[in-house]
Amino acid sequence: MICLEGLTKIFGADVKAVDELSLQVGAGEVYGLLGPNGAGKTTTLRMIMGLLPPTSGDARIQGSALSERAQQIKRLIGLVSASAGLYQWLTPREILRYFAIGFGLSERQAIDRTEELSEIMELREFLDRRCTTLSTGQAQRVNLARALVHDPPVVLLDEPTRGLDVVGAKVVFDYVQFLRQANKAIILCTHQLEEAERFCDRFGLLYQGKLRYEGTLTELQTATGQPTLVEMFLRLLRDNPIEKVEEPLDASTG
Ligand SMILES: Nc1ncnc2c1ncn2[C@@H]1O[C@H](COP(=O)(O)OP(=O)(O)O)[C@@H](O)[C@H]1O
Ligand SMILES: [Mg+2]
Repeated sequence: MICLEGLTKIFGADVKAVDELSLQVGAGEVYGLLGPNGAGKTTTLRMIMGLLPPTSGDARIQGSALSERAQQIKRLIGLVSASAGLYQWLTPREILRYFAIGFGLSERQAIDRTEELSEIMELREFLDRRCTTLSTGQAQRVNLARALVHDPPVVLLDEPTRGLDVVGAKVVFDYVQFLRQANKAIILCTHQLEEAERFCDRFGLLYQGKLRYEGTLTELQTATGQPTLVEMFLRLLRDNPIEKVEEPLDASTG
């Protein structure tokens, strides 16, 4: 479903943000792409989305190469980013319609899809309220629904729980379970390792742009000799000290 082949991004002369990244994610699978700030997670997602051209390598979605059909690939992907704000002066219904039309749905389809998502994401009671009046948890539900408006088979989540309280985080993780049941191929990027451990089927440990370890929790435990993801990362950081300390950019996807 998602297939990354040697995906690489070099910024400027020498910042290797993503270095020969290859991985595959199947339908109904939650892949945790994990790493500290600056590891290359957001850059990877932006390349998969077609927002950023790779220096080399490719990202295939359902067999379509990014380089060949970028526009079509975008329709296959839903992106949830922590930094994505809502249009405060609009209502959730208006936002869903706006994005549905943007993705090429007809008026009729947009209305039907809004109904469907209101049901799934429990938006009904505030569907016609301005977003300024929503609680954080409600706003997050709208944000998540928006990413699904075109019913993409692939969903990318970039730090989706950042800045949320426990209620907001639960909304996100219920959503991840829902996506898995709906047979989506999911990449979840986060540095919240304890959460990831509970919600992902498989993991890729990204550090300084390179995939250091990959596998199920059991496989990683065997490979690293460490019991938890947190300890795996501490070990990774200790064994590979950062020579050049850089201020990582914000996770903004533009
Ligand atoms: N537009 C950019 N220009 C230059 N360097 C960038 C740009 N975007 C990201 N980087 C650098 O690439 C590296 C990976 O960043 P990023 O993908 O945002 O990491 P993460 O999402 O894992 O925190 C960092 O060193 C960051 O400073
Ligand atoms: Mg990021």
